[in-house]
Amino acid sequence: MKLNIAVLPGDGIGPEVIAQAVKVLKAIAMEFNHVFTFHNALVGACAIDKSGDPLPEETISICKKADAILFGAIGKTSYDLDPYAKVRPEQGLLKLRKTLDLYANIRPVIAYEDLLTKSSLKKTQIKDTDILIYRELTSGIYFGEKTLSEDGNIASDICEYTRDEVERIAHLAFKAAQSRKRKLTLVDKANVLESSRLWRRVVQELAPQYPDVKLRYMYIDNAAMELIINPKQFDVILTENMFGDILSEEASVIVGSIGLLASASIGKDHAMFEPIHGAYTKAANKGIANPIASILSAAMLLDHFGLDDEAALIREAVDKSLKLHITTPDLNTKYDNITTTKVGDFIEDFINNPDETNLN
Ligand code: IPM
Repeated sequence: MKLNIAVLPGDGIGPEVIAQAVKVLKAIAMEFNHVFTFHNALVGACAIDKSGDPLPEETISICKKADAILFGAIGKTSYDLDPYAKVRPEQGLLKLRKTLDLYANIRPVIAYEDLLTKSSLKKTQIKDTDILIYRELTSGIYFGEKTLSEDGNIASDICEYTRDEVERIAHLAFKAAQSRKRKLTLVDKANVLESSRLWRRVVQELAPQYPDVKLRYMYIDNAAMELIINPKQFDVILTENMFGDILSEEASVIVGSIGLLASASIGKDHAMFEPIHGAYTKAANKGIANPIASILSAAMLLDHFGLDDEAALIREAVDKSLKLHITTPDLNTKYDNITTTKVGDFIEDFINNPDETNLN
């Protein structure tokens, strides 16, 4: 298969972790006789530094022409500390999601057997957790009208949803549940928010089309607690933009490190794959960033094109690296010299030679 992949490493640890994902995709292409071509483009703080724009036109054009996009991370401490900045790195990512209409963000949360002790939660609590979060990504409070009064003392962000926006992602979540344990939990705040009541009405109306899926509802505050107390009760979670952002980051505690969580952002015409973690500027260029979330995002990219064996081989390599403790310091307790690149090298070697790879 020929794939034209836009690569947007972004800021902070983004370039380091994405370099590993690209390396792994190149190894897959070699092993399975595919032709993957990569086109780099700027987004975020590095794009602001170069052109003043967090999402330059050239980047949009490269992404539109690509079959898929691999995205690293964005953000920079100087912007985090400046609530007055009008141009911000995050605007690049948000505009990209909106421009390409990447409305469904899919975030798997799987507790690895070999990492059960790395979580701050009890082993028995998290063992066998396997959740798929469907987060709406192009609407809600992130994209509603924003206002700031002239004196700077009153600000608002509108949370607005349309029926169509809810329906399209709800269909995807129902279908995903059908292919799994057939349980769907809609997470909202319908006891307070009108927009949440729209979500409930729409999802309730669609439910008869999926009679084999057991649908239930949970308020976000309760879900935040239940996700920690008993994560195994969840199969597919469907939720709006901001609740999904917060809940998925919380879910990383189950897995042991946010450096492990991958995601796919899917629309009708485009697809982007990105780790859920941020730019983690403090860790940049130290070789300590965990590349697994990016590498697993690359596996999700392959899933998207039906390259199942290829994606499975990456996951097998990741499992092996975790089993052998070939992990960055966020997880590692056994060796203290495993860098970002070393993890990528191990996974690359495993793909080239699955039977012979060991730590040497
Ligand atoms: C994420 C991130 C982004 C979000 C930020 C960087 C805008 O937290 O992808 O989860 O809030 O969507």
